[in-house]
Amino acid sequence: MHYSDELLEEIRSRNDIVDIIGGYVKLQRKGSNYFGLCPFHNEKTPSFSVSPSKQMYYCFGCHRGGSVFTFLMEYENLSFDEAVHQLAERAGMQLPEHQSAADRQRASRRQQLLDVNKLAAEYYYLKLKSEAGEQGRRYLKGRELTDDTILHFGLGYAGKYNDELYQFMKSRGYRDELLRDTGLFNADEKRGFRDKFWNRVMFPIMDVNNKVIAFGGRVMGDGKPKYLNSNETDIFNKRRNLYGLNYARRTRRNYLILCEGYMDVIQMYQAGFTNAVASLGTAFTSEHCLLLKRYTKEVRLAYDSDEAGHDAALRAIPVLREAGINVRVIRMEPCKDPDEYIKKFGRDKFEEVIEKAQNGFMFEIEQMAGRYDMTDPGERSDFIQASARKMLIFGEPVVRDSYEKAFAAEYGVRFEDFRDLVNRLGASMTEEQVIRDAHRSETGQRAGREAPAARKDDSLLSAQKLMISWFSNEPKLIDVLDGILEPEDFSDPLCRKVAGMIYDQYKKEGSITPVRIVDSFENTDEYNTVCELFNTTLAGADGHGARSKAVNDLVKRIKRDSLDRYRNEHASDPEAMERYIQGRRMLNDLKIKLQEDE
Ligand code: UTP
Ligand code: MN
Repeated sequence: MHYSDELLEEIRSRNDIVDIIGGYVKLQRKGSNYFGLCPFHNEKTPSFSVSPSKQMYYCFGCHRGGSVFTFLMEYENLSFDEAVHQLAERAGMQLPEHQSAADRQRASRRQQLLDVNKLAAEYYYLKLKSEAGEQGRRYLKGRELTDDTILHFGLGYAGKYNDELYQFMKSRGYRDELLRDTGLFNADEKRGFRDKFWNRVMFPIMDVNNKVIAFGGRVMGDGKPKYLNSNETDIFNKRRNLYGLNYARRTRRNYLILCEGYMDVIQMYQAGFTNAVASLGTAFTSEHCLLLKRYTKEVRLAYDSDEAGHDAALRAIPVLREAGINVRVIRMEPCKDPDEYIKKFGRDKFEEVIEKAQNGFMFEIEQMAGRYDMTDPGERSDFIQASARKMLIFGEPVVRDSYEKAFAAEYGVRFEDFRDLVNRLGASMTEEQVIRDAHRSETGQRAGREAPAARKDDSLLSAQKLMISWFSNEPKLIDVLDGILEPEDFSDPLCRKVAGMIYDQYKKEGSITPVRIVDSFENTDEYNTVCELFNTTLAGADGHGARSKAVNDLVKRIKRDSLDRYRNEHASDPEAMERYIQGRRMLNDLKIKLQEDE
């Protein structure tokens, strides 16, 4: 079976070789390549290299090498066709038994779009160099770009008239039907085709393979909009491309710099920081993250140091962190962006602020701190509570510990007190709550400002749910709570029902079998909720009596509410009042001690 070159290229470009081989061989980054132990011969020191820029692998020991296709053929013992199929499938591409006419057409369509973009880049570049490009040249000079830089990034100029590019493409024989889809023109029923860009300096946007896929254009001066991008097309998706990545990915540094704009990337490059990329006038997405992850494990943010830039950073940090990318924030105050900083203080000072980049988590905490009035004791304590909750995103005790220390030092609280607070919170929160929290603080709104009544109900219900999760993890608690907490104490009907089943099972069989309980629910909503109860993982708390404290808090919360209900229902019965008072006393003296606690 013969596949077109375009199709093979497409499959190759959608299956990054580092990802593919990384699934079989443990790879480590060294400079711009990755190294690992060769899977094709026996060796103790890594001589097997994978190159992200070439999309090739090669072993210096046994001299075997090739592309993603040959790797799979060799490793999995596949035929070429089988390897093609497997990779196409992995990329979610439809690959019929025989490549249909439609497929061939689509591939060649993409190629034609690339051709037009490439030609347009040449056209704009030559225009900039021509007599008509005088204004564009002056603008770029004003921004202190050298001719080398202009050439390197292929910057260009779109002339004064609004159909120059269109006329040029027509003269080259391109048809409206294709041009319509290039993202470079506005087509109007009556007035026909108009160039999207005119009287702007042009920034070609390239994919990681150095193919021009779109343009950004900047007005010269203060017109609006300041920047304009090509419309999205079959070859240009803003969420999946980063400006400058085709250059930055070759860097020898072990981190990439993420900034806001074209100019920042270019200025940094000119100053010798060749590892900067920018998202294209859109928020940083998890798709961007996947792309970055192929090339680096650490990102340093150089977003504008105004409120919008800080908010954008707060949105990007959790996305990066969840992808396992280490994040630091470059602080450029009093300057607004890298462009301004480098011009004002020079490249060496910029290198210093890059070196000193702030830990991403501590940046988030600092931004949060700015929203509380620290001179007010109540607000300050709210802030400390909120920070403690945030610490729970770190599941690894050693890691959490070092952040707790950093926080304590920075915000003047005693480390031991703070750690205990975090542990107590950890024992009373589920992992989902922690994750939800992490994303809430990122959007800049202050957590925990809902209506008080709603919060009370909510906290009672979540206390009951958590109690059930504790039971499912440690059924022995039922013995400990004998005579203290009964299923009837649960106000939520579903929780009461489940608690009843758990108690019954445990008392009869000495253990519980969650699946049996779950399967007795037929209503899907109930079924799902019960599943959730049984599969909830506590955010985790270690030692220092945190677990006992958490159970005490939960039992008290549920029991107090149950006693209050009892009293209200039997308001005129003196004996009931007596029982109520006894119950409250018992609660006051309650001290449950869990065995495993030291
Ligand atoms: P900025 O306005 O911060 O750009 O927008 P900048 O790089 O500092 O601009 P200069 O230095 O004045 O030339 C950051 C990015 O947001 C997108 C562009 O990608 C820009 O680089 N943007 C901005 C737009 O898409 N449209 C706009 O109107 C403005
Ligand atoms: Mn800017």
